[in-house]
Order: sequence, then C-alpha cells, then structure tokens
Amino acid sequence: MEHRQITVIGTGYVGLTTGACLASLGHRVVCADSDAGKVERLRRAEVDILEPGLERTVRAGLDSGRLTFVKDTRGAVAEAEVVFLCLPTPMGVAGAADLAAVEAVADEVRDRLPRGCTVVNKSTVPVGTAERVAALLGRPDVTVVSNPEFLREGHAVDDFLHPDRIVVGAADTDAARRVADLYVGIDAPRVLTDTAGAELAKYAANFFLAMKLSFANNLATLCERLGANVDDVVAGIGHDPRIGGDFLQPGPGWGGSCLPKDTHALLRVCEESGVEFPLLRAAIETNVEHQRRLVERVAAGCAGADGSLRGVRIGLLGLTFKAGTSDLRDSPALAIARQLRERGAELSAYDPALSDLRPDLGDLLTITGTPLEALDGARACVVLTEWPHFRDLDWEAVAGRLGTPLVYDFRNVLDPVRLDRAGLSWEGIGRSL
Ligand code: UGA
Repeated sequence: MEHRQITVIGTGYVGLTTGACLASLGHRVVCADSDAGKVERLRRAEVDILEPGLERTVRAGLDSGRLTFVKDTRGAVAEAEVVFLCLPTPMGVAGAADLAAVEAVADEVRDRLPRGCTVVNKSTVPVGTAERVAALLGRPDVTVVSNPEFLREGHAVDDFLHPDRIVVGAADTDAARRVADLYVGIDAPRVLTDTAGAELAKYAANFFLAMKLSFANNLATLCERLGANVDDVVAGIGHDPRIGGDFLQPGPGWGGSCLPKDTHALLRVCEESGVEFPLLRAAIETNVEHQRRLVERVAAGCAGADGSLRGVRIGLLGLTFKAGTSDLRDSPALAIARQLRERGAELSAYDPALSDLRPDLGDLLTITGTPLEALDGARACVVLTEWPHFRDLDWEAVAGRLGTPLVYDFRNVLDPVRLDRAGLSWEGIGRSL
C-alpha cells in the first residue's frame, strides 16, 4: 500500500497519538495546532501529557523526517491527501457536544483543501456531524469520513497500534476502505459502515462502558449490605464471555474527559430525537448518587458532634481520574473532594502525578509533596485513585507518627492485612462493612 500525505489538526492526546503513530506506519504527517508554544515544544519532542511511549514515537517520527509540527492550519492542509480532525468537543449547552472547534476548522480550511482530498473526523461528534462538516465545506470533491477513536488515556499508543477494531463510516464503501487502509499492518477487524453508524458506535461504546461501571458500583453497594465480596462476584460472572470481567472494578464513580461528556451528549441526542433510553439516564444518575453515598460513609465515620465535617482534617490519596495519567478533568476524586469541602472538611491531598505540577485548585485542598504530609493529623484517609504504590506506603509510620486515621479505600488498592497489622481500621468498597 502506498504511504499517504496526511495532516492532523489538533495535537491533544488523540491528535498527537494519531499523528505520531501514522508516521510510525510510514505515512508523511503534518500535525497542526493553534498553540504556538506547544508546536515549538513538540518540534523538540517535548510531550506535556503523561502517555507511555508517546514521546518516543514523536521523537522517532521527527528523526525519520516523516513527522512535522506547524502552527498554520491552512498551510498544513495545502498538500494533504487526508486530513484528520482531532479537535475537542466539550460539553456545551444542555449537555450537548459543542462543535465550535470542528466547525471553525472546517471553515478555516475550506478553500485550501486540495481537490479530491478526504477529511476524516476523529473527534467524538453526534450523528449527522459528517454531513454537517460536508455542508460547511461546500466542496463536492471532498469526502467526509467518520473514523472514531477508542483510545484510553494512559494507553493511547498501545491502543492505536493494537486496537480491537477500526471503525470507518462513509457515504461510499470505497472512501471508507481508503481510510481503513491507512492503518497499514495493523491486525484488527475493520468495521466499514455509513457515517451515522460510525458516529453512533463511538457514543454507544462509551455509554456501554459507563453503564458497566455504574452496574459495578451498585453491585459493590449490594455486596456491602449482603456481606459478599465484589471481587468474587465479578469473578463469578466475568468468565462468561457475554459479560466479560473487564471494566467492572468498583471505585469512586467514573470520570475523565470522555465518559461523562459523551453520556450527557448522547442523552441530549436521545431527548432531541424523542427516544427514551432509561438505562442511559440511570447510568449517569447512579454515578452521582454513588459519590453522594461514599461521602456519607466518610461523614458517618468522622463527623463532629454537630454532624458536620467542620474543621475535620481529611487526607486524600489520589486526585487524577484514574491512575497512569495526570488528567484531572471530571475526576471523581475532585467531585468527592468538593462535597467533603462543602461539609466543612479541611483537605490535603497527595497524587504522584501532581506533586510537581501542583495545579491550582483554589481553596478546595492543599496538594502535598508526599503521602505522609497529606495524612499528617488527618482524621480520615480516603483513597480515590488506584496508584499501585499506595499499597506500599509506610502505614506503620502513618499510625505511629501521624495518628490513626480511618482509612476509606474507595479503589480497593490497599492490603487490609497490612493496615490491620499497623493498627489502622480499613474499609474498602464492595466488602461487608
Ligand atoms: C474512555 C474509554 O475507555 C475509551 O475507550 C475511549 O476511547 C475514551 O474514553 C474516549 O472517548 O476518548 P478514558 O477516558 O481514558 O477512556 O478512561 P477509562 O479508562 O475508560 O476510565 C474511565 C473512568 O472509569 C475512570 O474514572 C476510571 O477510574 C473508571 N474505571 C474504569 C473504574 O472505576 N473501574 C474500572 O474497572 C475501569
């Protein structure tokens, strides 16, 4: 297969991974981003997100001469055979996907796209967006194709190179096949469909994952009441391939930059289409209710005589929305922290991905440089992100020098036997309380 001249617009974790990985497959790739500082850093292979293998792939692309970074989006598309749109589609009015960035770029490049080129949308967008982009471009010679991404943050490069499927939607199968063929040498089923099918597959995937997690979290609550261990129950169902054991770890609710925004956007689409999808609404509401319940659990354990958390020090372990990333967007840890703070708690938090970055979280909490600092004098310790090394903290030092906080392990990462030996009381999630 011939290698192509490709332009990727947007260098977030999806765009940058797409650009660098397509270059690693042999294509010539120009990545465009409107942030001049970011472009400069990427030209030096400086990647500012925590994404294993990405920096190495970017460097290899730069060294091969097949990967370049530019600020000028219009200039970047001038030679392109294929243009990938990898732009943010944040939550907009009433939960709908905000397509402003996609539309602005379509407008910007309209008259610079070479004759007969293909525009591929990778951003998560509602059904009908490919047609809308085609209408905005007003270029009958340009084909607009939908090719949603299924990359997980923290695994993006690996997921790109070893996907479980490649979904491409286009009005004609040849156009879809041409885009699927860009994934040279990647062994994965190709699902070729129309644009509506591809656009909806992306939302359906994230909705299904969110539904699985809400199921797991409710199941955990049931286990706590009935005295069962959720790990055993998940093992007892997960071997059935119709169910599958992945993505059933209970936790402090699901978050991140995708699942919350995409479930809300899909709910909005359902409302607009007059379709009732009670499971979708339930998955979202369960997440909110689950977090409220966890906050209640902490409050029940350490509220003062007046029932409030005023002045109660609580140490949080983990703030990112999951381990392996420094991303705080829609983090369940922050949602729980906000509720504890609203009840008056004094919060300090340690997260290994944030101890250097120290993002400004206002008066919500103090970020510390070590876990022990976060737990110093705390009445309770709440584990909110599943960083594995929390397991190996010096729990004797916590108990001996810092007091004996009640430990709420909402990720089930700690070893209850070790905590017990250190004289600490431990409560996990989905275990009898
Ligand atoms: C998610 C999807 O998993 C990807 O397939 C998709 O491509 C991506 O969104 C996207 O639309 O771009 P990501 O946002 O990286 O990926 O996060 P996940 O790994 O799915 O985790 C989402 C949330 O669920 C996190 O808060 C995580 O801690 C939680 N989770 C996950 C659990 O509580 N338990 C689990 O067993 C798995």
